[in-house]
Amino acid sequence: MKKVVLVTGASGYLGGRLCHALLDQGYSVKAFVRKTSDLSALPDGGGAFQIAYGDVTDYTSLLQAFSGCHVIFHAAALVEPWIPDPSRFCSVNVGGLKNVLKAYKEEAANTIEKIVYTSSFFALGSTDGYIADENQVHSAKYFSTEYEKSKAIADKIAMEAAAEGVPIVPVYPGVIYGRGKVTTGNIVALMLVERFNGRLPGYMGQENGFSFSHVDDVAQGHIAAMEKGRPGERYLLTGENASFKNVFDLAAIITQTAKPRFRIPLFLIEVYGWLSVLVSRITGKLPFISPPTVDVLRHQWAYSCEKAKVELDYNPRSLKEGLLEVLPWLKSLGLIKY
Ligand SMILES: NC(=O)c1ccc[n+]([C@@H]2O[C@H](COP(=O)([O-])OP(=O)(O)OC[C@H]3O[C@@H](n4cnc5c(N)ncnc54)[C@H](OP(=O)(O)O)[C@@H]3O)[C@@H](O)[C@H]2O)c1
Repeated sequence: MKKVVLVTGASGYLGGRLCHALLDQGYSVKAFVRKTSDLSALPDGGGAFQIAYGDVTDYTSLLQAFSGCHVIFHAAALVEPWIPDPSRFCSVNVGGLKNVLKAYKEEAANTIEKIVYTSSFFALGSTDGYIADENQVHSAKYFSTEYEKSKAIADKIAMEAAAEGVPIVPVYPGVIYGRGKVTTGNIVALMLVERFNGRLPGYMGQENGFSFSHVDDVAQGHIAAMEKGRPGERYLLTGENASFKNVFDLAAIITQTAKPRFRIPLFLIEVYGWLSVLVSRITGKLPFISPPTVDVLRHQWAYSCEKAKVELDYNPRSLKEGLLEVLPWLKSLGLIKY
């Protein structure tokens, strides 16, 4: 019998692709979603796919959903660079993991064999001037965003749980891109939409600023972490270390359109960010650019995924290969024209 796996954050960008990948590989999937979640990117319920309603801040709903599951993928998180009430990052991203661990302890004697926890490169901290691996521990002295802080705190909790014997495997994706739901988490798609609609005229950020991970490689990395990952071992599921300049240049080559001709100074983007936050406080609509985003752009976030390649057979595609798929997909959705 194939394992029953539960995916928190199933209605999100990564979670949706992960559910599809798990179903394709014959697993029975329980999608843990909120009553308010948009389920349009998920299959219809029935057969090997079930829906469990709850909230990661509601322990009882997690405990009920864990019943009968063999593996928990904890991918749910509040993924935003800025929100008006920053305390929500702690309640969802830290409190959610604590509830998962508590529910595991309650349910462990029964069926659960492993928890695969979706951390983030942010949990390890920036890498100004070098490329980091899994040995990097966040200095916790400075955080560009409250999101980064919450993921770093949650990472510590995950590692402490592993030291106590909880079979948890934390995985650390880079900047995830590729087809899937266009949420804030799908930042490359959002940037390309801005760029191709004339709202982002220049380059932003550092050389080798980020590590770009294709969403389907990350989903596959999660499944490999379930099958082969050693509890308490961290695995970076990153990809090509590149910049948003590389993304825009490759996009221009692929679509045979013009490259940006200049770099936008970060202080200008920051001014725009402050204004956007002001507007957001009036309209209630979250800003695309905020000062914390600009602070992220001031740093380098470059990582090596050698360990995952060796132990998990993680095989990330190049940025060019990924973008060759992303651009026609965005075009087919009518989000960009070229
Ligand atoms: N995107 C990236 O570049 C990136 C990079 C590294 C790591 N990650 C990590 O990958 C994971 C998935 O990110 P994503 O990009 O897929 O984000 P996303 O599209 O925003 O999805 C987040 C998911 O979490 C769910 N969620 C939020 N609050 C919840 C709550 N209180 N209870 C239950 N579910 C809740 C959301 O549900 P609703 O649909 O109801 O809102 C959604 O399904 C996160 O852990 C994130 O930290 C992402």
